[in-house]
Amino acid sequence: MPQLTRTFSKSQRAIDLEERYGAHNYHPLPVVLDSGKGVFVWDVDGKRYFDFLSAYSAVNQGHCHPRLVKVMQQQAERMTLTSRAFYNSVLGEYEKTVCELFGYDKMLPMNTGAEAVETAIKMARKWGYEKKGIPAGQAKVLVCEGNFHGRTITIVSMSTDPDSQGGFGPFTPGFEVIPYDDLPALEKALDDPNVCAFLVEPIQGEKGVYVPADDYIPKAISACKARKVLFIADEIQTGIARTGRLLCSVPDEEKDAARRPDAVILAKALSGGMYPVSAVLASDEVMGVFTPGTHGSTYGGNPMGARIAMEALAIVQDEALTPNADRLGKLFRAEMQKLVDAYPFVKGVRGKGLLNALVIESRTAIEGSPKTAWELCLLLRDNGLLAKPTHGDIIRFAPPLVITEAQVMEAGNIIALSVRQFA
Ligand SMILES: Cc1ncc(COP(=O)(O)O)c(C=O)c1O
Repeated sequence: MPQLTRTFSKSQRAIDLEERYGAHNYHPLPVVLDSGKGVFVWDVDGKRYFDFLSAYSAVNQGHCHPRLVKVMQQQAERMTLTSRAFYNSVLGEYEKTVCELFGYDKMLPMNTGAEAVETAIKMARKWGYEKKGIPAGQAKVLVCEGNFHGRTITIVSMSTDPDSQGGFGPFTPGFEVIPYDDLPALEKALDDPNVCAFLVEPIQGEKGVYVPADDYIPKAISACKARKVLFIADEIQTGIARTGRLLCSVPDEEKDAARRPDAVILAKALSGGMYPVSAVLASDEVMGVFTPGTHGSTYGGNPMGARIAMEALAIVQDEALTPNADRLGKLFRAEMQKLVDAYPFVKGVRGKGLLNALVIESRTAIEGSPKTAWELCLLLRDNGLLAKPTHGDIIRFAPPLVITEAQVMEAGNIIALSVRQFA
């Protein structure tokens, strides 16, 4: 008698396992990835896709960059973790590299983006008490509507996204939310002498790649400096060449401290997707508020992460990823503009460098089936390109910065084909 067996595809088995044993705190696109190289990823059945998410802008240097693989292997055989109870032979070199490259006196190494944001908030509060004279327990940090800075309790305490906050109270006090890209609102909030810092994303990535007015960030920096308030740029998603600059909040050539953020938060592409590495950069005066015992992390500053991050930053420079992102970003937006002009439901394209988004109007098709950005992402997947909606009907397109002009054009054709099928 024939044996009755159910056969599962490799993809379905992987999805079933995640569904059965993993917490459902994400809603992944149904594709199971198995390997990656440069701008491409392959699923378990060997189908190739353009990666137009880059792990939320972590893989700027491309998947499995051979230089990163090499240093990771070498360092893994030598030493991976010392803790900060001792000095290690890599951390100092790494700190020097980062400080010199980004133009800051000091850096504090952590692991994830959220940890670095927490670090910056602690630093700002302590600076507020010790250097600005804010009465104990009164320090306030200004943040923006629509912000995304991570997922810890303190960070979701300043979120305005109901999904991020709902059910997680009580929240951490000490934040005031102001509208994004609104200088008068910032000026007014800065009147409060207990404000120690303004924490802001130079482009709101998770919110849907909202690009503020050109003068918003420079004027906000000046306004903060005039009121002795720290301007803290969360460059976790926008930094490290993503937007066609090393940092999105300040031109690469700007050396005047009066026009630069007081502190910068980096993560994601700092390690080119190899390992969680994050950092806060600031001046001696600001970073000086941390003394032994006031902050730390077992893995923060480990030699493995430090070695990878140094190499990841060297790749950005050696492969000229900043001008590449600037040039190919313009080309990509021009290709997308053709779709905006051709299809009324493609409402717009926006972004800087290779952090871009297409706004899709969700609508009901003639036969009555809903047609949302999610469904367009499924078509893109079928046609060989991976991207995900951010909020509702906005699709973010953020390929690795090692992408070439020919690949941008090929990817643009896939997007155009998918939009045509979606229409
Ligand atoms: C602007 C910004 N800040 C903070 C974070 C949090 O980083 P992580 O997920 O590494 O904690 C993210 C992650 O998407 C981000 O985009």
